[in-house]
Amino acid sequence: MPSAISYRAAVPADGAFLADMVVEAANWRRGGVRPRHEVMAGAEHSRFVSGWMRPGDAGFVALDPQGHPIGAAWYRMLPRSDPGFAYVGTGVPELIIGVRPIWRAHGVGRELLHRLCDQARAQGFARLSLSVERDNFARTLYRSEGFAVTQSGIGRDTMVKRLR
Ligand SMILES: CC(C)(COP(=O)(O)OP(=O)(O)OC[C@H]1O[C@@H](n2cnc3c(N)ncnc32)[C@H](O)[C@@H]1OP(=O)(O)O)[C@@H](O)C(=O)NCCC(=O)NCCS
Repeated sequence: MPSAISYRAAVPADGAFLADMVVEAANWRRGGVRPRHEVMAGAEHSRFVSGWMRPGDAGFVALDPQGHPIGAAWYRMLPRSDPGFAYVGTGVPELIIGVRPIWRAHGVGRELLHRLCDQARAQGFARLSLSVERDNFARTLYRSEGFAVTQSGIGRDTMVKRLR
């Protein structure tokens, strides 16, 4: 990993950048080009950032040597009445992650995950969940970071990591 990459906790002003990362996640497939307004028009994606940052939201942002954001991972507690794809129960935050394409495969995603899991553990959460499409290589990353499939849906899996 290039040592000049730095990390900081996400802050309320990161909302627009986190939305960029939601768009990256939605367009993870090679050639994925769904425009931002289209991605963010659906609650499926916008619920991860709308009203950022609420009590209980937490995340980390990776910065390039000039201090520009290049990636982020965060979690939020989505209610049973408006759950995300990864909803597994009350008290389990859902995680989302994205890294700008030119910065991928430099260890940024793994470092963001480490920091986020440490944070969730420190906050007293017992589990973190996420949802990933079955052909996304990110599954391998998640598995290697201790996430296990708990539920298989159509084309996507819910993965959960136990933090204690
Ligand atoms: C998934 C994502 C966040 C990972 O971030 P990243 O910074 O690229 O990941 P890392 O560099 O930390 O790599 C993690 C592991 O994945 C592997 N990896 C990275 N890019 C890969 C690729 N294109 N294909 C296969 N494996 C890859 C790395 O080899 C690494 O494993 P290693 O540590 O054993 O070498 C990033 O690629 C991304 O934003 N993808 C598009 C959005 C997305 O899919 N989000 C997740 C939705 S669930």
